[in-house]
Parts: sequence; structure tokens; C-alpha cells
Amino acid sequence: MPVPLFLAPMAGVTDLPFRLLARECGADLTITEFTSSAGLSRDQANSWMKLESDPRETPFIPQIFGGNKAEMVASVEMLQERADIIDLNFGCPAPGITKNCAGAALMGEPDHLIEIVSACIEASNVPITAKLRMGTGYIENNIVKLAPQLEELGVMRLCVHGRTLKQRYTGGADWKTIADVAEAVEIPVIANGDIIDAASAQACLDETGAAGLMIGRGAIGRPMIFNEIKTQLGWSKKESPWKEDDIFASRLWCWNRYIELSQETTGLQHKWLKRHALAFTKGLPGSKAARTEMARNNDAATMAEAIKNWLSQKL
Ligand SMILES: Cc1cc2nc3c(=O)[nH]c(=O)nc-3n(C[C@H](O)[C@H](O)[C@H](O)COP(=O)(O)O)c2cc1C
Repeated sequence: MPVPLFLAPMAGVTDLPFRLLARECGADLTITEFTSSAGLSRDQANSWMKLESDPRETPFIPQIFGGNKAEMVASVEMLQERADIIDLNFGCPAPGITKNCAGAALMGEPDHLIEIVSACIEASNVPITAKLRMGTGYIENNIVKLAPQLEELGVMRLCVHGRTLKQRYTGGADWKTIADVAEAVEIPVIANGDIIDAASAQACLDETGAAGLMIGRGAIGRPMIFNEIKTQLGWSKKESPWKEDDIFASRLWCWNRYIELSQETTGLQHKWLKRHALAFTKGLPGSKAARTEMARNNDAATMAEAIKNWLSQKL
């Protein structure tokens, strides 16, 4: 049975043109990278810049984080005019975030987490969703206990990354616990962690019974993974615009489209371009030469062209 595929929110990766590209490559839903509610509520331009969207990104789902209830509520109030859904982040393990008891650290203070979610739901006239881990790993994992409480508060959908805060990205994702969460609630549960191709997507779905799958690292430099999963699992017969069996051709198509979508929306952003250029060339034979090009070209437009030429030469 087909389920929706989500591009995971990833700071420094899932900028607007990349989210639009992932959608063209078969992602059903995209979410912005996490954005500080402290920054948003103080009207800081760099926080608001992370929440740019485009009419092609429907529904528009900004993700916010923070450990201060008033700031989270203020951000929800400011965002709800533009957002279709607002996602709350309780999964980030970065020390810079967790030291302020935000992100995944809030799973260690479940009462505080519940208070924040409850206040955000009360303040919001758009649905609220939440992305969590299994727990902190320092106390007993509490996602299975928390999920029904969040459902009761009115959370529309939960996404669970099958790791603890302590694990960060080590070890394998625990899909069994995600299955327990899906069993414990009626609302849709989206499974996340270690889905990297059609086989792992099917295995995760079989084990968790999730209502959707979310893909993060497997889509970095490889947004075509969404279409691959859908066609290989027989969910879609839609032909991809790139040649399936040619790794250079598919990456070139995606790279060109990323450039076009950037030009149509945010403009070419040097930092983003460099990150994606590395990812799009990673693992390809001779990619050292592409890296040299990246180091040489400081100007975004020149780099865009150089990577395009490098990928074209291989065809
Ligand atoms: C570079 C990077 C940045 C991330 N940024 C975010 C973020 O902003 N918000 C969030 O909820 N999760 C973030 N994550 C976690 C991913 O959304 C996802 O939960 C995690 O990578 C596990 O899924 P995967 O195994 O498919 O990569 C990030 C992960 C990576 C690798």
C-alpha cells in the first residue's frame, strides 16, 4: 500500500529550492529546516529567511524549536497566516540546542514538552504536528507513553526518528519502537531513520505499519530516491525525467533543476550551492576534480556552471 513520502527537515540542506526539487522527484511532503522560536519571536531576519516558501510548496510546513513557551506561542501566532501546518521539533540532538532544553532535550522534561505543545495548539488556527525521537537515552524511553498524550492534546500527526538523543546518529534506527507508537495512537505516525532505498522503505513499512515514511540523509545529493522508491515498489508508473540507469545523467538533471529553482526563488546562494555540489558529486568516479572546481570558483554562478560541465562531461 503506498504511503506518503516526506523529505526530512535538515538544517543546511533542505533549503527552498532543494525542497521544490525533492517534490519534483516524488516527495509528497516537505518541511523547512528547524527555526529558532527565539529568533522568530524577536523578528530576526536570519530566522525568517529560513521560512521562505513558494506556491508550489503546498502544504507549507515550517518547523520551529525552542524551550520557552512564550516564544514558541509567539512564533506560532506569527506563522499561522502563512503556514498550512506548523511542525514542532523535539528531535534535535545538537548540544547548542539541547543545552537550552530545546529540541530532543525536552523529551527529558515531558511535562514541559506537553505544556509547550498544549499552548501552541491553543494559540494556533492551523494544525500542529511534532517530530520526536524515542527519548533522551538518559532516562527510560518515553515516546510510547508521550504519543497518546500528544494525540489527546490535538496533535495532528507525529513523526518519530527511531533513535535517542544520546545516540544522536549512531546505531541503527529502532523501527520496533516506532511500531509500538503507531499501535498506541490513532493519528498518523510517520517512521523516520535509515531509509535509504526501496528495500529499506518496504522493510520499514512492514515493521512499523507507519502511515508515511520520512527520508533524510538518503536524499542528500540523491533527491531522486523518492521516485526510485515509488517506481520500484510499484506505487507509481510515472517515468522519471532522467535516465534511471545513468548516475551522471540523473545527477545532472537534478543539479540543473536545482539551479533553475534557485533562480526562480531565492537566487543562487553560494553556501547552499557548495553544500549541494559536494553532495551531488559525492561517490562519483573522478569527483575529486569537481571538488577542485568548487574550491576554485568563489562565485555562485561560476560554480553552478562548472559543476554542470563536470557532470555533463561524463555523459
Ligand atoms: C544535516 C542534518 C540536519 C538535520 N536538521 C534537522 C532539522 O532541522 N529538523 C529536524 O527535525 N531534524 C533534523 N535532522 C534529522 C533528520 O530530519 C532525520 O530525523 C534524521 O536524519 C534521521 O533520518 P535519516 O536516517 O533518513 O537521515 C537533521 C539531520 C541531518 C543529517
